[in-house]
Amino acid sequence: MKKIFGIISVFFLLLSCNRDDIIQPEPYDNPELPLIIPPDFPALNNSVNANKPTKYGVELGERLFNEKRFSANNSISCAGCHHKSNAFADSNALAIGIYGRVGLRNTPPLQNMAFMQFYNWDGKILQLEKQPLVPIITHEEMNSSILEVIGKINDDQEYKELFRKAFGDENISPERIYKSIAQFGYTLISADSKYDKVQRNEDEAFTESEARGYQTFQHKCGNCHSTALFTDQSFRNIGFPLNPNTDEAGRARVTGIPADYMSFRVPSLRNIEYTAPYGSFGQFPTLKSVLDYFDNGVLDADNLDPVLKESGNRIPLTEQEKEDLISFMNTLSDSSFVGK
Ligand code: HEC
Ligand code: HEC
Repeated sequence: MKKIFGIISVFFLLLSCNRDDIIQPEPYDNPELPLIIPPDFPALNNSVNANKPTKYGVELGERLFNEKRFSANNSISCAGCHHKSNAFADSNALAIGIYGRVGLRNTPPLQNMAFMQFYNWDGKILQLEKQPLVPIITHEEMNSSILEVIGKINDDQEYKELFRKAFGDENISPERIYKSIAQFGYTLISADSKYDKVQRNEDEAFTESEARGYQTFQHKCGNCHSTALFTDQSFRNIGFPLNPNTDEAGRARVTGIPADYMSFRVPSLRNIEYTAPYGSFGQFPTLKSVLDYFDNGVLDADNLDPVLKESGNRIPLTEQEKEDLISFMNTLSDSSFVGK
């Protein structure tokens, strides 16, 4: 009897196992990763609410960010231009992509993107989910297509597993790729510089030079490099040297209106120490050269920003002020963010 019971229970056990197999692999616990919003940061971009970072979404996004198969010849990933040690910018004047092709603009850092309303130098992208396709299909960047990319990673068991953990099943779709990379992007929050610590009264204080630099900064730069992001996210022509590439028109590339010609989104100055060279096409090797340029006088233009126009097309700065401003800007370096 015992034996028969044994056999019967084994039979039922098998049956129940089988049924589980048919239903679904065990669902993953994929908790939301709450974004820790630093004090005084501006509002989140609305897209974040429709694509909240999750544990595995972010893990997958980071993996894809480092995926060289995104490029036609499997040579370059997003991280190939966006280096963590440079606050996810790089040290080239112009971006260098597949086959050494040179792009139109300088690679910007990737930081605090959850709080930005416009992406890229000209603000052509409004949602982070819309960004990843751009480099994938750009001739000078990755020169591929999203279907080509999916074709290459579709049979990768590790990806299948990660897509299942992140989204509930193994299907690798363009939307899931964009969403997970954006989720990873949203988690790149930088707010732990000396400046932040001083603001939070965490037993660090500015040196005299940094404190003087901060004063000058608020007075002469804070018009545009404002808010806790150090950008008001406006577009302005400040008369920087012109990109010799005739494709460049700044914000006018997006809007088509003359008033936006050679206007650029005010860049954040967080982590500026790590992101040389500077300017939309890397025209300035150092911070000192940017300040000398402001001091010597900028290019005139019909739409030159009033802040500059009203002070004779320049921002006058003494040598001491320049030194102090650089000390201050260096307090915006978040060494933990860049892994240093
Ligand atoms: C060849 C170098 C290169 C590669 C590869 C590259 N990028 Fe970029 N990235 C740039 C440049 C240059 C810009 C600025 C483009 C512009 O303003 O027109 C940029 C802009 C961005 C921005 C906007 C940042 C901001 O400040 O608004 C994001 C986000 C971004 N890239 C993410 C990615 C992702 C994700 C990938 C991979 C799918 C990627 N990039 C691949 C060079 C690169
Ligand atoms: C009228 C607005 C405005 C003022 C005032 C202003 N900036 Fe800027 N700044 C910008 C814009 C716009 C850019 C990008 C311009 C471009 O690349 O053509 C920029 C670029 C920069 C860059 C290069 C950043 C990078 O990532 O490449 C630095 C550094 C900088 N500014 C520092 C300062 C300092 C320091 C002051 C004060 C002495 C100052 N700015 C005043 C609007 C302003």
